[in-house]
Amino acid sequence: MAKIKGIIFDLDGVITDTAEYHYLGWQKLADEEGLEFDRKFNEKFRGVSRMKCLDMLLEENNRKVTAKEREELAERKNNYYQKYLENITKDNLLEGIEKILNTVKNNGYKMAIASASKNTEIVVKKLNIREMFDTISDGYSVKNTKPAPDLFLHTAEKLNLKPEECVVFEDAKAGIDAALAANMTAVGIGPEERVGHAHFRFDSVKDIELEKILSE
Ligand code: G6P
Ligand code: MG
Repeated sequence: MAKIKGIIFDLDGVITDTAEYHYLGWQKLADEEGLEFDRKFNEKFRGVSRMKCLDMLLEENNRKVTAKEREELAERKNNYYQKYLENITKDNLLEGIEKILNTVKNNGYKMAIASASKNTEIVVKKLNIREMFDTISDGYSVKNTKPAPDLFLHTAEKLNLKPEECVVFEDAKAGIDAALAANMTAVGIGPEERVGHAHFRFDSVKDIELEKILSE
């Protein structure tokens, strides 16, 4: 195994609890539109781009829309989501992540965020953690979204590292698939059925044992 030199963090569900706000945004939209939607279905949206999520929601409900309506629906969901973002602060960092970020930094690893979200810069600024990272990749960085490896490969390139020198922290099935496809070490945060295919898995961020991952 190559020596690990960089750590790539997903944002929603790994650094902060915005996964819940995404859910609330979709639920509000679905309710207004009379579309079936619940927390269970929302699980499929983790790590998946906004437009892909919308398409999944519409398809599940057999709802056909025009291209214009599709844009409007996605924009409406995003407006709801951004309304929730107004109130976030450093308090919205997930329990235990600050310690991990500091340890990684103090041990000289390169650090990046790689998220499918087009709201990444807004969230990172609100959390006041921008200066910790060498680079940030987001929903604008590559065309092919997770589970394609593109976002992580693009991030490794920006860090000037080989894929096998990178560890990825992810809470999404699509994110673990992407990290594995990129030939990186994958660390899953969440239940077995969601991220059990990662190299390492922890129930939540506060359970992460960094020494275990980085000692290899
Ligand atoms: C993250 C979240 C997804 C979300 C995606 C796009 O990956 O886990 O649930 O759909 O970002 O977010 P955006 O902010 O661009 O709508
Ligand atoms: Mg996530």
